[in-house]
Amino acid sequence: MSKLLEGKRGIVFGALDEQSIAWAVAEKCHAHGASITLTNAPVALRFGKINELAEKLNTIVIPADATSIEDLENLFDKSVEHLGGKIDFILHSIGMSLNVRKGRPYTDINHEWMKKTFDISAMSFHKVMQVAYKKDVMNDWGSIIALTYMAAQRTFPDYNEMAESKALLESFARSFGYHFGIKNNVRVNTISQSPTMTTAGSGVKGFDSFFDFANKMSPLGNADASSCADYCISLFSDLTRMVTMQNLFHDGGFSNMGINAAALNK
Ligand SMILES: NC(=O)c1ccc[n+]([C@@H]2O[C@H](COP(=O)([O-])OP(=O)(O)OC[C@H]3O[C@@H](n4cnc5c(N)ncnc54)[C@H](O)[C@@H]3O)[C@@H](O)[C@H]2O)c1
Repeated sequence: MSKLLEGKRGIVFGALDEQSIAWAVAEKCHAHGASITLTNAPVALRFGKINELAEKLNTIVIPADATSIEDLENLFDKSVEHLGGKIDFILHSIGMSLNVRKGRPYTDINHEWMKKTFDISAMSFHKVMQVAYKKDVMNDWGSIIALTYMAAQRTFPDYNEMAESKALLESFARSFGYHFGIKNNVRVNTISQSPTMTTAGSGVKGFDSFFDFANKMSPLGNADASSCADYCISLFSDLTRMVTMQNLFHDGGFSNMGINAAALNK
């Protein structure tokens, strides 16, 4: 196998368990020759399996609540120290909605929880990039990716306030992509992924039947976590150096479908 990330250094946010998209990305980064550090919220370290992954990939876990600037500063300092130099790529794979978790409908939102949801699921992306920018820890021609969902563009009622979180997240990629591009050719993109069986995914009401619907509607079927990881590797690699400020659909064709017989007959 050709190693697309040989000699590169990265930070992977959001691996909770084997189901996590970030878990698959971390494994593939390692297989492609990159050195990475792993990070997740301190609470996730207690009930997740990230330490097992770190052991397997021979790396360390640096706890960081992605809403805390102080934690992020510590994360970048420790990552640069552990990896022995500046960073080439970052995966932001973080999402959590308090209103979804607590079953609040979109028309009866708790707005304090909504602020927290936006902070965790979207502003954390700006915070990660701002800390990296101010510390000047990104290597020239580096690559930063966040994972998103098509509810940012179209209405999926059960996705609730996560739709606005994702719209904000995608906008941060465009705006910071400009500033990071000007600074030192760092690119910033979002990948809009198919429904995927993970802890975050299955928290959405009716997820199983929607997963099945999307699978039938997409000419290639739903993209799984492993193929999402392949796409991330290509975007971290030097083969995609001129791609920036984009929202890239990785969904087996779902986003450009109207209707088809398989979905109609479901
Ligand atoms: N699963 C899907 O159907 C799907 C589809 C499109 C996009 N996505 C996106 O992919 C990303 C990864 O989700 P996943 O599906 O792999 O689920 P997941 O539950 O495995 O990952 C979500 C991660 O966010 C972390 N997190 C939550 N709060 C945090 C905080 N304050 N600081 C740091 N980390 C925190 C969790 O600990 C967890 O590791 C999310 O952005 C999600 O919205 C998922």
